Amino acid sequence: MIIFSLPGNIPFTETLAVKLEGEIGAAEIRDFPDGDTYVRINSDVRGKMAVLVCTLDHPNNKVLPLLFLAQTIKELGAKKICLVTPYLPYMRQDKRFKSGEAVTSILFAKFLSSFVDCLITLDPHLHRIQQLAEIYSIPVILTLHAAKKISEWIQNNVALPFIIGPDEESRQWVSNIAEAVHAPYAIISKTRHGDRKVSVSVPKIYDISKTPVLVDDIISTGTSMLAAIQQLRTQGLKNPICIGIHALFSEKACKNLLRAGAQTIITCNTVQHPSNKIDITDIIANEIAQLAP
Ligand code: R5P
Repeated sequence: MIIFSLPGNIPFTETLAVKLEGEIGAAEIRDFPDGDTYVRINSDVRGKMAVLVCTLDHPNNKVLPLLFLAQTIKELGAKKICLVTPYLPYMRQDKRFKSGEAVTSILFAKFLSSFVDCLITLDPHLHRIQQLAEIYSIPVILTLHAAKKISEWIQNNVALPFIIGPDEESRQWVSNIAEAVHAPYAIISKTRHGDRKVSVSVPKIYDISKTPVLVDDIISTGTSMLAAIQQLRTQGLKNPICIGIHALFSEKACKNLLRAGAQTIITCNTVQHPSNKIDITDIIANEIAQLAP
C-alpha cells in the first residue's frame, strides 16, 4: 500500500499513515502559470494499492488534479486506486427539483466512478438516495459513520444532553447517538425555501435542566442550525451545543451561530477547520487496514 495526499490533506494523510504504518507516496502537484495542473509521481507504485486522500469540500478545483493523479498512478502500474474522501460532495442535488436542473449527484457519481476502484467516505448526505451504490458504480464502496465518535465526545463533555436533529434526514444518526449516550432526542421539522432560507418547527422540550445538543451532518451556511438555535432559545433552554460532521462553513456561518447563542461549535476532522474536535482517522484507518492484503 502507498498513501498519497492531495494538496490540503497532509495532516490527515500523515495521521493515517502513522496508524497504518504505511508508506507516504511522493507526488508533485502544482499549477502552471496559466492554471493548468502539473502532476509527477516520484514513488514506485507498481503492483501496489494506491490510497489517495482527498476530502472534497469545495470540490471543483480539486477533482481534476485528483483525476490526473489517479490515472497517472494507474498508468505507472498501481494495482488499485482507493479514494479516501472523508467528505463526499454533490449529494444534495439528487433530483431535478425544477425543470432543466442538472442532477449533479448522479453526474458526479459517474465521474468519480470512472477512475476509482474503491471509495471510502464518512456520512455522505443520504436522503432520497439511500446507498451510494445506487448511483456509484465503484466496485468497493465503504460508507462509514461518525456516530460512535460523536457519542463519545458528548459522553465526555456534556452532563445532561438532549439530542436534537435539525431535520427529518438527521433522524438516522440522531437516534443512534441518543441511544448510545442514554439521552432523549427530538427531531425538528424543517422546510427549505432557498440556499439561505429555511423555516423550522421545534418540538417543545419540557426538561430545562438538559443541554440541547444539535447534531447535523453538514453545516454550510449555518442557516439550518441558526433557525434551530433561535427557536430553542425562545423555550428558555440552555445555550445549545452545535455538532456538525462536515465543517463546510461558508461565509460567516460560525460567527453567526455563536452570535445567535451557540455555546460551542464542534465538528469532525473530515474537512479541516478550527472547530475540529472529533478525530475520525482511526475509523478510516481500520477500514483501509482490512482492505490491504
Ligand atoms: C441538509 O439537509 C443537511 O442535512 C444540512 O442540514 C444542510 O446541508 C445544512 O446546510 P446549511 O448550513 O446551509 O443550512
